[in-house]
Amino acid sequence: MDIAETPVVSVTPLVRGLPLIGSVLDMAKDPAQFFVKCYREYGPVFRVRLLNHTYTVMAGVEAANFIGTREGKECLRSKEFWQGLVKEYGATRTLTGEDGESHKELRDIMRRGYSREAIKGRYNELLEITDRSIMRDWKVGQAVPVVEAMQYLVTDQLGSILTGSAPLEYVKDIRTTILYILNVLVTRQRPKVLLLRPEYKRAKARVFELGRKMIADYYAKAGSRKDEDKNLIDDIMDAHVRDRRLMPESDLVLNVTGPYVAGLDTVANTIGAFVYAVLKHPEALRRIQAEVDALFANGRIEEDDLKKIPAVHGAIMETMRLYPVAVAQIRTATRDFNFAGHRIKAGEMLYIGTSVPHFMEEYFPNPQKFDIDRYEKPRAEHMQSGVYSPYGRGPHTCLGKSLAEVQMALSMARLFWKLDLALDPPDYVLKTKTAPTPGPAMDFRVKVKGYRH
Ligand code: HEM
Repeated sequence: MDIAETPVVSVTPLVRGLPLIGSVLDMAKDPAQFFVKCYREYGPVFRVRLLNHTYTVMAGVEAANFIGTREGKECLRSKEFWQGLVKEYGATRTLTGEDGESHKELRDIMRRGYSREAIKGRYNELLEITDRSIMRDWKVGQAVPVVEAMQYLVTDQLGSILTGSAPLEYVKDIRTTILYILNVLVTRQRPKVLLLRPEYKRAKARVFELGRKMIADYYAKAGSRKDEDKNLIDDIMDAHVRDRRLMPESDLVLNVTGPYVAGLDTVANTIGAFVYAVLKHPEALRRIQAEVDALFANGRIEEDDLKKIPAVHGAIMETMRLYPVAVAQIRTATRDFNFAGHRIKAGEMLYIGTSVPHFMEEYFPNPQKFDIDRYEKPRAEHMQSGVYSPYGRGPHTCLGKSLAEVQMALSMARLFWKLDLALDPPDYVLKTKTAPTPGPAMDFRVKVKGYRH
């Protein structure tokens, strides 16, 4: 029997929380572990109160598999959570907030620009950007704030590859805007009045300035670019020129600056956690160093060379399992439906806790252990149905996944090839933050002991 057709047997339990604030503190401390604990106690469906909102959480492999089924697509909608952002930009729609045909239409416009194809032939350019970033931000003898350094690196890479220019002078503004928008308008963990702060207004104005520059740049170069050289911004702008209904003027700034909202914090936090996890595990570090020394032994690299660094790939996958930046996906129920013996009502706000299985012994033996060999056959623990979802599930699965994979592998290979790094102090235990994107705390630093190459 399909999980959506399971007869309704019980009232959905409400997780015990504190008076007035509910489970806000548990969620702020460690949402991934909180959902795992609740899943163990209550099963795949439970309710969580956060201040004056109550969310229904659907979690585990059941939920991860449901999200991509026909019922899942019919019953779950993204729109409500992103409406505030769309309104804030004076736009009509955004990729993350559309569903059904409208979503498909936008995804089709952006698919090529976000794909692995977009970086074909550009691996060595990505390495040059990484080298530039290392020379700029990672000085020998210094303790480098890892996440911040990664934010500059990622902006440099995404800007160059996806949009044609690297807007480093806007990094702080982009980050501030993401912080406010995700906290206030999308996840609604903070009050709306914060949007009146001059800090936010200034940052948002700068992001608009960046968006308008990108649009002006397109028009300045229009006609001179061959089809095969077109980037994401060209594809978005071409859609606008071709069909104003598809991509109206009002939606341009939101869409052209979208890659930074989607890719900056996600990648920066993931590779920040990678640096910590690898330095914490000397055996993984040793294997990675041996691998990357062989990778770069001949100077330039070919695309197939990325297949020769299994330890780097294993460490990235293990980082995404243990430090998922997207703990859950947020949705609204479009209609009443049954799930795992519970009745979900139309309009209920939902968290789909897809990262819960990442921490379950049943699927990943000794789940707290950083074990970079889990993903190689015959173990291939991530291949079990619904257990591993760092890029989400269903129609909104990360569109930049292939790009992110190459970007993270090359960046980490190059960083660990170039630099001899150490935790500072050596027994440092990672502090994490959860808002807006879970990841290492901004004060996480590593010591640059010297250059390896
Ligand atoms: C560590 C790296 C990354 C992770 C873990 C990640 C994770 C995710 C997740 C979980 C979603 C689904 C959200 C949902 O269902 O509500 C998503 C969507 C998306 N991601 Fe990523 N992402 C990463 C990097 C990137 C990069 C580098 C880009 C491109 C610059 C990107 C572009 C997108 C886009 C455009 C969407 C929206 C897809 C849609 O709504 O159809 N992501 N990502």
